[in-house]
Amino acid sequence: MTTKTSIDHIGDYVGQTVCLEGWLYNKRSSGKIVFLQLRDGSGWIQCVAVRSELPEAQFSACQNVTQESSLRVTGTVRAEARSQSGYEMSIESVEIVGHASDYPVTLKEHGVDFLLDHRHLWIRTPRQRSILKIRSEILLAMTEFFANNGFTRVDPPILTPTSCEGTSELFHTKYFEEDAFLTQSGQMYMEAAAMALGKVYSMGPTFRAEKSKTRRHLIEFWMIEPEMAYVTHAQNLEVQEQFISHIVQHVLENCSAELHVLERDVSKLTSVTTPFPRLTYDDAIAWLQENGHEISWGEDFGAPHEAAIASAYDRPVFIEKFPTAIKAFYMQPDPDRPEVALCADLLAPEGYGEIVGGSERIHDYNLLLKRFEEHHLPLEDYQWYLDLRRYGSVPHSGFGIGLERTVAWICGLEHVREASAFPRMLYRLTP
Ligand code: 4AD
Ligand code: MG
Repeated sequence: MTTKTSIDHIGDYVGQTVCLEGWLYNKRSSGKIVFLQLRDGSGWIQCVAVRSELPEAQFSACQNVTQESSLRVTGTVRAEARSQSGYEMSIESVEIVGHASDYPVTLKEHGVDFLLDHRHLWIRTPRQRSILKIRSEILLAMTEFFANNGFTRVDPPILTPTSCEGTSELFHTKYFEEDAFLTQSGQMYMEAAAMALGKVYSMGPTFRAEKSKTRRHLIEFWMIEPEMAYVTHAQNLEVQEQFISHIVQHVLENCSAELHVLERDVSKLTSVTTPFPRLTYDDAIAWLQENGHEISWGEDFGAPHEAAIASAYDRPVFIEKFPTAIKAFYMQPDPDRPEVALCADLLAPEGYGEIVGGSERIHDYNLLLKRFEEHHLPLEDYQWYLDLRRYGSVPHSGFGIGLERTVAWICGLEHVREASAFPRMLYRLTP
C-alpha cells in the first residue's frame, strides 16, 4: 500500500512514493508532458506526467482531466526550488474520482454577484481558502488566549425572549405559541455566567436585522463575548489590547503562506503591539472638528469619522467614554461625569472601523431599574437580569468583538462578506 499524505506534509516524503487525494486546480500541457496543479485543501503542488514514462491510458487521463475534477495521484516526491511549495511530484498513476465538466468558477475574473451566487465553489480558490484558514486560526488564537487567562467558555442561547442591544434590529420568529428573537448579543447571559464562573467567554453567531448595506455589516455575524466579574473599565481595556495583540501575533506566526496569498502588507500587523492609544470621545470630537469634520458633541461617529481617527495611528485605538445617551442602557455611567459612560469602542487601523464594543456594566439595582424605565423596556422580561443586581452584585465588565470585521482587517479585505464562508447579507440568503 502506498502511503497517503497531504500536500502540507509532502516535504517529509522526498524520494518516496506517496498518494495524494485532491482536486485539479489548473493544468498546462505539451504533447509530451502534462503539469497538473493539484490542491487538497492543505496546499497546492505541481504533479508532472511524462508520456514516455506512463501507460497511454494514464497519460491521456492526465491530458483530459478538467478543472476541479477530483483525483488520486500516486508518484514520487522531489524537492523543486522553483515551485512555490518547494516540491514537485512525478506522476506514476492517476485515478479520476469525480469528473467535473464546465466548472463555472474559471480562473479568469468574475463579477462579485456571480461569485457570491457560486460561493459554495468560490471558497475553493486560493484567496478564499486563505481567508477561511486565517479565520479558523483567529478563533484558535482567541480560545488559546482565554484558556491561558482563566476564562471558561459558556454558550448563551440563540433563541431569546428579549433584546440586548435595542429593539429595532431584532429578527422575529415564533417559539411555538410565544414570540422569540434571534440573539443580537449573548451579553446578558454572559453577565449571569460571570457571576457563576468569574471570567467567561462565548463564541457564536449573532443576528441583526440591520438595513445597512455597507462593507462592514452582515446580518448574521459571529461575536466573541468575554465577561469578567470584579473587572473595571480600565482593566477591561487592558484585557482587550492583550487579546487583540495575541491574535495578530498568532496569525503572523502561523499564517505567513496565507497572508502571502492575500498580498497582505504584514508591516501593518507587526506594529500591533500593546499598549493601544486611548482617546476620549471628547478628544475625538475636538480632533475631528479641528480637522474639518462637521460633528458636534452628542453625535455618534460615522464611518468617515472612524476612518479619519484611525488613520492617525499604526495600531488599533480606543475611543472611550461616549455620551451615555447614545450608548446601550446597561453601561455604567462615569461616577465623575454621569453624562458619559465607562465604555469604549476599539477602532481597527486602515479604515476597518469598530471591531470591539465594550463597557463596564451597571451593577446598582436602582440605577438599572431607572434605565429600563427610560428606555421603555418591559420590566417583567428582564427580572432575571435584575436578579444579578439583587443577589451579590459586583462591578463587572466585558466586550464583544466582531469576528468577520476582525478577519477583514487582519486579512486586508475590501468587504466583510469574504470573511464568512456563507455570508448572510441584506439581499442575500443563498447559497
Ligand atoms: O458594539 P456591539 O453592538 O456590542 C454588543 O453587542 C455588546 N453587547 C457586546 C458586549 O459588550 N458583550 O457589537 C460588538 C461588535 C462590533 O464592534 C462589531 O465588530 C460587531 O460586533 N458587529 C458587527 N459585525 C458585522 N456586522 C454587523 N452588522 C455587526 N454589528 C456589530
Ligand atoms: Mg458598537
